Amino acid sequence: MIIQPSEKAITEAAARLRAGELVAFPTETVYGLGADATNESAARKIFEIKGRPATNPLIVHVDSIERLLRYVDLSRSKNPKLLEQRLVALRPAWPGPLSVIVPKSSAITSAVSAGGDTVALRIPNHPVALQLLRACGLPIAAPSANPSMYVSPTTAQHVLDGLGSSVAYILDGGPCQVGIESTVLSLIDETPRILRPGAVTASDLQKLLGCSVEEWAPLTGDERETLLSPGLLEKHYSPRTPVVLRTNITPLTKLPPKVGCILFADHAAPCAAVTIKIISDTGDLAEIAAQLFAALRELDHAGLDLIVIDTCEPIGLGAAIMDRLIRASASTRSTEK
Ligand code: TXA
Ligand code: MG
Repeated sequence: MIIQPSEKAITEAAARLRAGELVAFPTETVYGLGADATNESAARKIFEIKGRPATNPLIVHVDSIERLLRYVDLSRSKNPKLLEQRLVALRPAWPGPLSVIVPKSSAITSAVSAGGDTVALRIPNHPVALQLLRACGLPIAAPSANPSMYVSPTTAQHVLDGLGSSVAYILDGGPCQVGIESTVLSLIDETPRILRPGAVTASDLQKLLGCSVEEWAPLTGDERETLLSPGLLEKHYSPRTPVVLRTNITPLTKLPPKVGCILFADHAAPCAAVTIKIISDTGDLAEIAAQLFAALRELDHAGLDLIVIDTCEPIGLGAAIMDRLIRASASTRSTEK
């Protein structure tokens, strides 16, 4: 059920979380499917409902840096002092779309970390998420609230469409402002490493940390080369309709009858299309990120044979957008081979 986030509704949602039940809630990136991260059976329900492999760990959400530090086991870090310094240096990025991988404190159930001794932590920047976290006083494990492998939800209705009655309580916080999932940054080794690009970019992180950060980079260098190696790409964020990137369409490409296009600016489509969706008039990356998943879902429900999507420079937020696009189109390319 979709619920408006009144004070009473937040109190009710917090009580449900404390009782080991699941609650879907908005964040600035995408909607999350939340459970008490200290409760093993609650965390297991997330994997069941999403059809998520138990080997894929979850992100834990907290409401403050003080609480975040509570779930880091500094004593198990190779360099506890440096890790603590780095977490403090990242303070200006929170609340915000950044998750850090750190040694896990024993308070977090190993169901959340998929049996591993590290955990992903973040402070989401959404008033409803922060109110909920404060009201329940718990660390909340929450992956994106969609069936595993499908496009992440950016509205409460998307959550309902994907997970239906298996989630009893969906707090509605409106459309997500960022629209793609948080940057995942590993602080386990000496050189911090981006495991998933997001709205907090490598250059943002380098500035905050004052050290070099290993970028996530299948797209650096020749983009085409990467596109020719779909075996390296994990299929993810995928609509059921096949997806092809605009850059892979040539005048010789044979196209099916019903093609839909998602464009990043008000320019000509690369091919004849029955539906055209322009998600930014000016190629604005923040706007593209905010609209992308809703557009993919909309065209996925339009009875098309193929979705063609524009591409952007894989720089800054563009790297995160291209990561999601390449994954969404990965299965199409591998079946073409
Ligand atoms: O923006 C987001 O991060 C959203 C909202 C709800 O906060 N959550 C989200 O969660 O995208 P999920 O589960 O869909 O993605 C979590 C990512 C996965 O790629 C997972 O493998 C990685 O974080 N991850 C989680 N814990 C990890 C760990 N201990 N080590 C390495 N990767 C980890
Ligand atoms: Mg996800």
